[in-house]
Amino acid sequence: MRQHTFKSFLTLFAGTFLCSCSVSDSDSEATSQTAASLAQKYQDDFIIGATADQQSYRTHAAILKHHFNGFTTENEMKFESLQPTKGNYQFTTADNMVSFARENDMTVRGHALVWHRQTPEWVFTGPDGTPRSEDDVLEIMTTHIGTVVNHFKDRVAVWDVVNEAITDQGTLRSDNEPGSDQSSLWYARTGTRYIEEAFRAAHKADPSAKLFYNDYYNYLPKRREAIYELVKGLIERGIPIHGIGLQTHINTRPSVVPTHQSYHQTIDNIERAIQRYASLGLEVQITELDMSVYVGGQKYTPDEFFTDESLPNAVLAEQAERYKALFAMLRRNSDVISSVTFWGIADDNTWLSEFDSGRSDFPLLFNKKHQPKPAFYAIMDF
Ligand code: GLA
Repeated sequence: MRQHTFKSFLTLFAGTFLCSCSVSDSDSEATSQTAASLAQKYQDDFIIGATADQQSYRTHAAILKHHFNGFTTENEMKFESLQPTKGNYQFTTADNMVSFARENDMTVRGHALVWHRQTPEWVFTGPDGTPRSEDDVLEIMTTHIGTVVNHFKDRVAVWDVVNEAITDQGTLRSDNEPGSDQSSLWYARTGTRYIEEAFRAAHKADPSAKLFYNDYYNYLPKRREAIYELVKGLIERGIPIHGIGLQTHINTRPSVVPTHQSYHQTIDNIERAIQRYASLGLEVQITELDMSVYVGGQKYTPDEFFTDESLPNAVLAEQAERYKALFAMLRRNSDVISSVTFWGIADDNTWLSEFDSGRSDFPLLFNKKHQPKPAFYAIMDF
């Protein structure tokens, strides 16, 4: 249970006070640093993390240092970043980022060892252009995991070992999924063996690291159950696994279109997934939280895209309400949730604005000027 300390009373008081102030642009850095600290406010509940890229951990350092005590690299620990060509490991960028995190007392999540995306072609195809054998691919994978996990031993506390092995239909992601980037060559070459072998290799390299299975749309009943069954099977077979990560890329409200995945995106359904996974005796973490201001299943023409100028206060208020309800639920489950990581720091740097459509999104707690948004104050107000 959460202990209400004098310190938490003070941080709440400071947050309430700052919330009622109007702040000029030139004060933005000062505001994000003088507002009560998010991580301190949640210190009895769970770690509050953020992901950063190789630029934003510097450009957004002030917010990171003040508000977050967890850290994830956005792309810099993915396979293609760490071993772009065979045997050619590139650790410098990730090392610098991990050093920054540790110097600032942040717990580091390593993301992600095995994923069907952002993995170089050489892993699956030999120099002669033919598909590599199952044994070859497993050897390449376990060598990569062993080298990487060993390299970051005692510096990275938690690893997303396998990312996104399940589909929306609740099947194992195969080599024949619709959509250009949906198929898994890990599955094509090894069947399901890659999953078990990945966890074994990570555990062997660092027996004290916490090993996670990470996936998205966990609020979809079919996905929730498929992930539960997959992980239950791993546990039954004695595979070392310690937790399940829920990515939690969500929207300001669920879709009204019953066939759209986000129709099921209720706080209740997210809570069901958390409790179902925890019933396996595992830790649960929210690993990639952000909240798009666009609603799923709705078509937006370019003239309807929100801009810095046109984003209505009502949308920011709706986002704040949903963040508030989400965090109230997360706190209710803080006995099983060990960390909540935002996928980004401020709205000037979010993957959701990087689509080809040029549509700007505003999914995080700090705005493009690095000032706290209504959503920030909403989750500090309890
Ligand atoms: C997934 C991955 C992340 C990131 C996001 C969006 O959620 O797990 O690493 O790539 O997609 O880019």
